Amino acid sequence: MKRKVLSALLCATMMAGMLAGCGNDSSESTSTDTKTESTDTAEAGDEADAADAKGDDDLIVVGYAQVGAESDWRTANTESFKSTFTEENGYKLIFDDAQQKQENQIKAIRSFIQQDVDYIVVAPVVETGWETVLQEAKEAGIPVILSDRQMDLSDDSLYTCWVGGNFVKEGEDAGDWLAQYLESKGKGEEDVNIVTLQGTIGASAQVGRTEGFGNKLKEHSNWHMLDMQTGEFTQAKGQEVMESFLKSYDDIDVVIAENDNMAFGAIDAIKAAGKTCGPDGDITIISFDAVKAAFEAMIAGDLNCAVECNPLHGPRVEEIIQKLEAGEEVEKIQYVDESVFPADTAADFIDGRAY
Ligand code: AHR
Repeated sequence: MKRKVLSALLCATMMAGMLAGCGNDSSESTSTDTKTESTDTAEAGDEADAADAKGDDDLIVVGYAQVGAESDWRTANTESFKSTFTEENGYKLIFDDAQQKQENQIKAIRSFIQQDVDYIVVAPVVETGWETVLQEAKEAGIPVILSDRQMDLSDDSLYTCWVGGNFVKEGEDAGDWLAQYLESKGKGEEDVNIVTLQGTIGASAQVGRTEGFGNKLKEHSNWHMLDMQTGEFTQAKGQEVMESFLKSYDDIDVVIAENDNMAFGAIDAIKAAGKTCGPDGDITIISFDAVKAAFEAMIAGDLNCAVECNPLHGPRVEEIIQKLEAGEEVEKIQYVDESVFPADTAADFIDGRAY
């Protein structure tokens, strides 16, 4: 918004000097660039066109480089941004779905820079490889807010702040829950064979959850990690990988699914293989996110425990932007509080779930 006001002032000065008309101003030429730049990101283009049509310089323009639409969590996260950053609330949201590809996110960020947005928000697909494009945003004077996943950067001044879940803690919480569950079943000292369906390799949600559960694994010499493979945070791939685990190992006791959707795929694979899972089943399953469908799976008796990862970051990012607009300081790293929901508590919480 501030840069647009500057551009309007410049234009007015030019008119006063009778040098040129203001009809074809710099913001229009920016929007032409935008249309070219965002041909591969249709939704970003549509939103930009809408902004051009309204020509509303009072709105704060936010470009959101979203990971994709790979899970129920992601759908809730997108909805949280779209319902927060509305024109009624004073924003123009330019939304881009990167389809789980880092190169698409980099293109989207460059498009946002060209469009001279006021803020760039990124939920990075993976942790590394962002320095160049963030340097470009910095040189353009556009604050970058990270949300959900983190980046592994050599220079922390390349982003303003980050808000999201503590993925290492989530992994540790899963391990702690498993330890006390096995203890309560009198199986605390028995050998336990575990497989992990990992998220997208290199995503901080995968890196953190794998590390956190790994920390607990080290504390239990009777826990054996048989295999870890990526299911890309999707139900279809989670099912595929679980099918191959079941073919390779006939003695799986526990599945750690690094998100709910992969757990849903694993449940289908386990049932198709003639086995059972959940509190009364052959295989214990723990997942991350705790979306509503996970509560349904727990109530149905298929899932043992869901470790929460809260996706409702839209209002949190808005609060950050409002503080920045007011010239206030913001905390660099902002963790969100999250809980653990075992199956026997699911019925108490399902009605209150917002996603
Ligand atoms: O980064 C958060 C993770 O990404 C969620 O656990 C998962 O469902 C999503 O795809």
